[in-house]
Amino acid sequence: MPAGVGIGPGNGKAYPGNLTPFVTVTCIVAAMGGLIFGYDIGISGGVTTMAPFLQKFFPEVWDKKEANKSTNQYCQYDSETLTLFTSSLYLAALVASVAAATITRKLGRKLSMLFGGLLFFAGALVNGFAKAVWMLILGRILLGLGIGFANQSVPLYLSEMAPYRYRGSLNIGFQLSITVGILVANVLNFFFAKIKGGWGWRLSLGGAMVPALIITIGSLVLPDTPNSMIERGQAEEARTKLKKIRGVDDVEEEFKDLVAASDASKLVEHPWTNLLQRKYRPHLTMAVLIPFFQQFTGINVIMFYAPVLFNTIGFGDDASLMSAVITGIVNVVATMVSIYGVDKWGRRFLFLEGGVQMLICQAVVAACIGAKFGTSGNPGDLPKWYAIVVVLFICVYVAGFAWSWGPLGWLVPSEIFPLEIRSAAQSVNVAVNMIFTFLVAQVFLTMLCHMKFGLFLFFAFFVVVMSIFVYFFLPETKGIPIEEMNQVWKSHWYWSRFVEDHDYPNGDMEMSKGGLGPKNV
Ligand code: BGC
Repeated sequence: MPAGVGIGPGNGKAYPGNLTPFVTVTCIVAAMGGLIFGYDIGISGGVTTMAPFLQKFFPEVWDKKEANKSTNQYCQYDSETLTLFTSSLYLAALVASVAAATITRKLGRKLSMLFGGLLFFAGALVNGFAKAVWMLILGRILLGLGIGFANQSVPLYLSEMAPYRYRGSLNIGFQLSITVGILVANVLNFFFAKIKGGWGWRLSLGGAMVPALIITIGSLVLPDTPNSMIERGQAEEARTKLKKIRGVDDVEEEFKDLVAASDASKLVEHPWTNLLQRKYRPHLTMAVLIPFFQQFTGINVIMFYAPVLFNTIGFGDDASLMSAVITGIVNVVATMVSIYGVDKWGRRFLFLEGGVQMLICQAVVAACIGAKFGTSGNPGDLPKWYAIVVVLFICVYVAGFAWSWGPLGWLVPSEIFPLEIRSAAQSVNVAVNMIFTFLVAQVFLTMLCHMKFGLFLFFAFFVVVMSIFVYFFLPETKGIPIEEMNQVWKSHWYWSRFVEDHDYPNGDMEMSKGGLGPKNV
């Protein structure tokens, strides 16, 4: 059975180091970088169901929705301009993530976070005061640029900072912030939508300034990671910092490995073209496929469009926003489960369990919607129990995502790249994530209109494919120090053919000879 890996903690190097208050607080502050991404994901869906917002900026969508009450419910929101509003952000984020590769590598992780916060702040300001569609789009482009910088740098920062035994949990703080951001946004939408005078959407959009300030201030007070300091020629300061972060004096072994990784990194002049070398094939494959699969779970259909979706299946406007709040709570709580379990049960277990759970729920939701709406999209009267069943299964689906592909889609890429390609590969990860987030956001309403309930089966198909991929091709990475990660490829039944002994001067060789063996074949 190709179980992926059998390397547990204790088999490889064991750097001394504790979960110090210093590293914990540092990681919590840095993880808050996820708030801006989450806030934005949660806010757009709700705002685009607010009547005054639609009437002001997208009157044609409003008219169609009003006129459409008794006809095909699948198609009532189908509008290119409206989806462009949601998805323009993701294209901007893609561009920024590429620029962030150089800044993160040459100037440090912190500076990319700072840019992220400032750009996001500017975007929130423009959106809160928007008078015309072009201002909305400009605002969203600025927000997107901010997200590109933050998502590129924050996960790397966390994975470098954390003691390796707790890396999973600390890194998932980022995803936890994303989910908290989504939830807060959903709750705010619920209340702001009720504001008389119809300007609540301005508060929703302008409210993004708050998470922007948090990451901006955070980036100013956080220390840089030792890995990045060494990479930028500050070795002695890095040693002192490493002692403080780990809470022990004996950091020599880890420090030496960081310096070795940095030396290897200096030999690489063109990280982008380097990524194409054969020995980086496993890394490149993961940098592309993990974010691709994460988006093809279909999660953002729920995240962006939960109110729209619930509205479509017969909830009133208020009930729709409320249901989105419920899925938001499930999302946060289930992410905590993964913080608890990721360094105990491992990444592969969570990926596979989450996959099965999502698959079952997608099939049930498709069957429920298909049974009532058929292909005409005309449900007649919907009984209450029916709506409850749909929301329940959507919640179980969200929980499955929230302890698997959600956090792991950010964690695993941030921990598997060697330093010399880390920043560039992480940019590929973010860029691919954004392209497919964009595609899902852009085509979802049209797909719902054409594929109807089959849309859920479409994503279910991808969940099967990604689970098979994880089973055969994704090695376990729990409990392996980040600069020692190459051992997991060397001892993998498939990826070992791409990795050659002389590729890794960092001591991995010794380890793989020292009995790790091909347990995982
Ligand atoms: C994904 C987002 C998604 C969110 C939901 C993140 O990991 O990248 O696309 O909306 O999780 O919690």
